[in-house]
Amino acid sequence: MALNKLNLLFVVILSVYFSPAVESVNPGFKGRITQSGLDYMRDVGLQVLKEEVQKLKIPDISGDAHVPVVGHITYTVSNIRITSFSIPPTSTSLTTKTGVGLTLASTGISLSAWGNWHYSNHGFIHISDSGSFDASVSSTSLMLTLRIGVDNSGRPTISMTTQDCSFNAGYVRIKLHGGASWLYNLFSKDIAGVLKSSINQQTCSLVMKEVNDDLEMQLAKIKVEAHFDKTAWINYSLVAPPTFNGHIDTAHKGEVFPAGTGPHAEAPFTVPVIPSDPDASRHMFLWITDYMFETAGYVYYKAGVLAYNATQDTLPPDFKYKLNTDTFAVEVLLPQLNEKFPNMPMQVNVKALAPPMVRFTQPQVNASVNLQIDVFVINKDKSLTFAVSLDVVVHGSASLGCVENAAGGSSLTWTVKLIKTDVTLKRSAIGKIDTDGLAIGIEFACKNMLVPWINEAGKKGMPLPNAGNVKLQKPVIQQGQGFVKLGTDILYIPSE
Ligand SMILES: *[C@@H]1O[C@H](CO)[C@@H](O)[C@H](O)[C@H]1NC(C)=O
Ligand SMILES: *[C@@H]1O[C@H](CO)[C@@H](O)[C@H](O)[C@H]1NC(C)=O
Ligand SMILES: *[C@@H]1O[C@H](CO)[C@@H](O)[C@H](O)[C@H]1NC(C)=O
Repeated sequence: MALNKLNLLFVVILSVYFSPAVESVNPGFKGRITQSGLDYMRDVGLQVLKEEVQKLKIPDISGDAHVPVVGHITYTVSNIRITSFSIPPTSTSLTTKTGVGLTLASTGISLSAWGNWHYSNHGFIHISDSGSFDASVSSTSLMLTLRIGVDNSGRPTISMTTQDCSFNAGYVRIKLHGGASWLYNLFSKDIAGVLKSSINQQTCSLVMKEVNDDLEMQLAKIKVEAHFDKTAWINYSLVAPPTFNGHIDTAHKGEVFPAGTGPHAEAPFTVPVIPSDPDASRHMFLWITDYMFETAGYVYYKAGVLAYNATQDTLPPDFKYKLNTDTFAVEVLLPQLNEKFPNMPMQVNVKALAPPMVRFTQPQVNASVNLQIDVFVINKDKSLTFAVSLDVVVHGSASLGCVENAAGGSSLTWTVKLIKTDVTLKRSAIGKIDTDGLAIGIEFACKNMLVPWINEAGKKGMPLPNAGNVKLQKPVIQQGQGFVKLGTDILYIPSE
């Protein structure tokens, strides 16, 4: 339908927000749209509405009426086109209605239209006539309440009842052309009256149809799961009904689970409690707990993707160190390897032995991961000769930030710090190894090679996704105990 674009805006924003209500459990993430966010949505909505209304296909109106001179008539008004439309943002509001949803109220709406008219009477002497008209409606007010909820299958619902809509066309003026218009225009006030009651009756049923059918149908198609990648999906389901109280607050499951699975055993993690926070300084907020990251780590670990075999060819081209037994690092850390296999390319297989641990704290994120590192040399015939196997626990910390990127969006940035490594030797094929020296060496290598490289990438960061036409504006990240909080304004970018 014609209001699709406006619908789409609602859908995009609501889709991030609404899903099924189940018995209360701690949410893996929470969301909020504040009043300033609603004000922004109102402004964008009105802009879109303005463009859409002018393209609106208004259904023909027909009915019976009693008019002076000709008596009882059947009339048809057809080919109605809207020639101008104005709805002032200053007298329009989009606000929360506690326990219900949202209320949209607007006064001072005006509109002018052009169309064709035709009538015929029911009288003894048959009369019919036709022509065109110019009409304008001004000082019009509209108030509607959108009831927002969730259905059993976990999707957001939106609905309206007759009591949720009121519409009153203030002044209606009409001028007829063609036929015996010179005569009818003498009674234009009466015709305007007929028109006014027809508009008043039909507008709310049109709006209700848009909301109850079109908008509701689009919401019903929303997926309550989002695909991260081919390994992991995330469950957006609401774990409590959304609340409407000055802002829209939502609480979501936020569990990352293996792609393609239906009901599954839940990942064995507890969800940190997100403290209540009255912050309304930005358009919207997200509070994301450790739980989301830990369930993600768990899924990736179980899927066996937390493994990496490094050879010179698989290393990123900007990694400036060589995987060769003759390099300084190997000479210092594993002198036996260099002695036994001089100047040979190496392969280092790294795999996680457990899901990584992530803890949000203030001011940094603590993370640790237990790795098995197997070192091989690569023979001329490409076969591998095993050298050593190590068990390494890496403890690190990270602080997160946001920057604006070249594409005009925002990127998540990070700086990591190595806290310590615990190294134990699992197996050696190159004789006795000094693990203390190796531990110091590995820590040195991490600090001076790996960390600077990760931080170089972290400076540029990772672009934060935009939801359809909605772009994040100047997002700010704050870390709390067990969660990270993202506050952002939003920017709507029209498709064309
Ligand atoms: C998503 O979370 C809800 C609420 O905990 C749960 O009922 C539903 O089964 C979950 N869906 C999947 C695919 O895990
Ligand atoms: C890494 O190499 C080992 C054999 O050396 C192999 O078993 C494993 O599947 C490889 N892992 C990846 C991620 O390529
Ligand atoms: C985070 O790491 C720091 C530095 O190692 C440590 O002092 C702190 O106790 C850790 N916090 C948590 C919650 O693990």
